[in-house]
Amino acid sequence: MATTLAQLPAGSPVVTVDHVSLNYFNDKEPLPVLVDVSMTAGKDEFVALTGPSGCGKSTLLRIISGLNKASAGTVKIGGAEVTGPRPEITMVFQNFVLLPWRTALENVMFALSSRRELSEAQKKDKASKALEECGLSGFENVYPGELSGGMKQRVGVARALATEPEVMLMDEPFSSLDDLTAERLRKDIYALLINPTTSIKTVIMVSHNVEEIIELADKVVVLSSRPAHVAGEFTIDLPRPRNKKSPEFFSWVDKVYSLLS
Ligand SMILES: Nc1ncnc2c1ncn2[C@@H]1O[C@H](COP(=O)(O)OP(=O)(O)OP(=O)(O)O)[C@@H](O)[C@H]1O
Ligand SMILES: [Mg+2]
Repeated sequence: MATTLAQLPAGSPVVTVDHVSLNYFNDKEPLPVLVDVSMTAGKDEFVALTGPSGCGKSTLLRIISGLNKASAGTVKIGGAEVTGPRPEITMVFQNFVLLPWRTALENVMFALSSRRELSEAQKKDKASKALEECGLSGFENVYPGELSGGMKQRVGVARALATEPEVMLMDEPFSSLDDLTAERLRKDIYALLINPTTSIKTVIMVSHNVEEIIELADKVVVLSSRPAHVAGEFTIDLPRPRNKKSPEFFSWVDKVYSLLS
């Protein structure tokens, strides 16, 4: 599987969401959440997913990750249908829960605990490399309680990265951080995606922060209010690094906002 995605030409679809619908069942009454949603995320592409509060963004991400099952439609990763969690997909959450009694390194190694083919030394190597890529060299032996919010989130990203995923799904990864911390982490995460030495081929990020989306995304998919369908999709063709003060930047922000409101 890993080699198949690595061999895909840039831009070809890595994640294909095809006519996905989902109903939740509360007290036996179906709650329609997603209706006929189709989207793709290509190789080397950073896709942002946005939409009104409660419309079903996290649900869609969970379906892509294989944690939730669609009521109809399919999700494919490089052509293979997702029927449950897969090793090439990983998820970063808004508030990563770290185990307080384990060091940063041990928290990252924990993500590799089911990898029986790896020795403890190999797990340690992979975890140290992931911490280093996330800017946490020197913090291997620190406990979560001694880390700032931004650093905890970096450990969360390192934990995801250590599993060497090809598809990184992020659910509002920066929304619990202060502006400056979030800004720095955004830049670093984008650098990880385009860095050819990391395994990541595609990122799908849920966010309701339109400026953050225009700063990072190659493509933005806007969902309607619940039950959600795709209200619009834009390719953000601004050059990088993006100038957050340019009129072109604001015109993109306006365009996405107008679809959300
Ligand atoms: N496991 C569940 N069982 C039943 N209903 C659910 C479940 N998870 C979510 N919902 C409902 O489905 C709808 C969509 O939820 P979801 O969390 O996917 O939306 P969201 O767009 O991520 O919201 P937010 O902007 O608040 O993060 C909401 O009305 C929510 O209450
Ligand atoms: Mg959500």
